Amino acid sequence: MHEFKVINGKLFCEKIEVELLARRFGTPLYVYSYQTLVDHFTKLKSAFRSVDPLICYSVKANSNLAILKVLVDRGAGLDIVSGGELFRALQAGCPAERIVYASVGKTDVEIQEAIRHGILCFNVESGPELENINRIAKKLNKIVKVALRLNPDIEPKTHKYITTGKLTNKFGIDLKSAYDALLLSNQYSHIDIAGLHIHIGSQITESSPFVAAIKKIIKFIDELKKAGIILKYLNIGGGLGIVYDGEKPQTAVKYASKVLPLLKKTGLKIIMEPGRFIVGNAGILVAKVLYIKSTPKKKFVIVDAGMNDLIRPALYSAYHNIIPLKAAARGKEVVDVVGPICESGDFLAKGRLLPKLKEGDYIAVMSAGAYGFSMSSNYNSRRKAQEVMVVKDESYVIRRRDAYEDLIHNEEIPLFLYGL
Ligand code: LLP
Repeated sequence: MHEFKVINGKLFCEKIEVELLARRFGTPLYVYSYQTLVDHFTKLKSAFRSVDPLICYSVKANSNLAILKVLVDRGAGLDIVSGGELFRALQAGCPAERIVYASVGKTDVEIQEAIRHGILCFNVESGPELENINRIAKKLNKIVKVALRLNPDIEPKTHKYITTGKLTNKFGIDLKSAYDALLLSNQYSHIDIAGLHIHIGSQITESSPFVAAIKKIIKFIDELKKAGIILKYLNIGGGLGIVYDGEKPQTAVKYASKVLPLLKKTGLKIIMEPGRFIVGNAGILVAKVLYIKSTPKKKFVIVDAGMNDLIRPALYSAYHNIIPLKAAARGKEVVDVVGPICESGDFLAKGRLLPKLKEGDYIAVMSAGAYGFSMSSNYNSRRKAQEVMVVKDESYVIRRRDAYEDLIHNEEIPLFLYGL
């Protein structure tokens, strides 16, 4: 459910007509619904309330400070993967003890910073990383909590680029190596291996892969208990799918009903890292139709948002529903909706049956709140889009559109190029 609704042929975000926002702020424009964001977080929290989990929203899905603050103020922790995300998390006011840090490639500087700030734990992805964190923690004279990210070798039934829990993926540690590391954990003088972590992929619409992965981990925890190893945390990652097209993803309640009985058995503090579930349907990308172009083979609707604004269709052939902001009784036709970028991969929809559009119309690319703006770039020296958040009948700019100066602000022309 979300707060983007067509009323009398016009798309509304909460109580504001989206076309008014497009005219006021210009396009491309990301529009987020505050209420939807809060609702999704609350749904998950209440479905899992019997274990009172720490919900660490996955910053990579949408890292805008205002969005982070909405969630942090409601008790969310944050799941980060870089020094940049640590910076954002702290800027948004997240207490360090609610931050968990994954990534296969943490640098020494990133590790140092995270230790200095006192994050809750590192989700460690390899033996060499474990040794490195131990070495750095020793230098800083700190005992650091870590969770081992396990690779349970489970097929999550999603796009291969966003599958992360198979042994052919770069993520996590296989169970045997993790077991060995835990048995030898006293050789890590400055590390407290306090938990286990899994994240098997993203946009997973059924609960069966989650259940299979958790069952494997529970067996593993039992083996550890037998060996006298007792943990504190179990982090079950993110990955919950949302509706883009005709999917019927499990609801928070259904997901909870399947995994909670298993999680309770562990007696461990549960951490989760949802990204898309919270923010995916809370945001849309609004674009303006620049031209309608007919070729002997196709009709193209050329809009002012491109793959630099939303790369998911180009990268994963992802489907995003597209709707005109205002209905017009002009019939329907099959078109490709494309952006202005000089690549044939620059499309938002291909072979899509849409209401007939004309120059100057606005469209909404739905379900663009997750991995939309956060994966956007300045390719073709295009300025990153503006972002606004709607709260009932008010709208707030949460990121200004880039200025041209922003495109070059770190660049320098060496004097010799001027002949000096
Ligand atoms: N935890 C870890 C360790 C992750 O790697 C991810 C996402 C999450 C949590 C959050 O997953 P979510 O609940 O959002 O599924 N760019 C892709 C998705 C990449 C996901 C990367 N990891 C897309 O646009 O579909």
